[in-house]
Amino acid sequence: MKIEIEGNPPYEDSEYGRKYRADAFVLLECMGPHCVDAVVTDPPYGLNIDNQAWDDGDIHIDWLAYQFGRVTKPKGNVFVFCSDFQFGAWYQELGKYFSRLQKFVWCKTNPVERQFKKLNRFAESVEFALHASNPNSYFKLDKEEGIQNYIKTGICSGNERVKKSDGKSMHPTQKPMEVMKYILEAITDEGDVILDPFAGTHTTARAAAALERYYITNDAFPYYWWMPED
Ligand SMILES: C[S@@+](CC[C@H](N)C(=O)[O-])C[C@H]1O[C@@H](n2cnc3c(N)ncnc32)[C@H](O)[C@@H]1O
Repeated sequence: MKIEIEGNPPYEDSEYGRKYRADAFVLLECMGPHCVDAVVTDPPYGLNIDNQAWDDGDIHIDWLAYQFGRVTKPKGNVFVFCSDFQFGAWYQELGKYFSRLQKFVWCKTNPVERQFKKLNRFAESVEFALHASNPNSYFKLDKEEGIQNYIKTGICSGNERVKKSDGKSMHPTQKPMEVMKYILEAITDEGDVILDPFAGTHTTARAAAALERYYITNDAFPYYWWMPED
């Protein structure tokens, strides 16, 4: 599916999808109703992570939830990573368009905070996400034991980490492929179209292509536009 954004065509067009360089708010407005099978995204947490300008301020969860509901097909799913303090707002707003809401937790086996003895509190080792669906939404049902609403992995590291030319990490919050694949395998089927309007290093695109799903991914900020080949 090609989205027409005035003056902003996709900058990469491949077998499984398209990558855009638009403001997510503009991109979503240019999309027709019920055109994707899933929105799977990791928007800014509003925590000013690594002093990144994009992570500072209000992301208008009410408007985004409305748009995610609008562009998703009736049997579709929405999956949003969020910070602790955003969780309630996402729950309330997505609840206006989806009847089932379920938490999901990414448990990090090697969390960023390492000075454990100095913390004087629990080491911050999990990230929340919210899965919004309806009773007839697609969900993979072929496992006897079901699919748990958590995944335990290390944070993204080594060769998987997208690097700048100086060898430093491209993005402070790159999600591991294992996490994205786990989610996409559960809530989408082969051939489905997945939207990620806040894609960062486009992990969602790489995971989708690896699982033979189609993708529309986007990030507004120039420093994430260059992507190495897998
Ligand atoms: C949490 S990061 C996503 C990281 C991604 N999951 C990955 O694996 O690389 C959120 C992204 O949203 C992007 N962003 C923030 N505001 C945006 C906007 N208005 N439109 C499009 N992208 C935006 C930032 O540039 C940032 O890369």
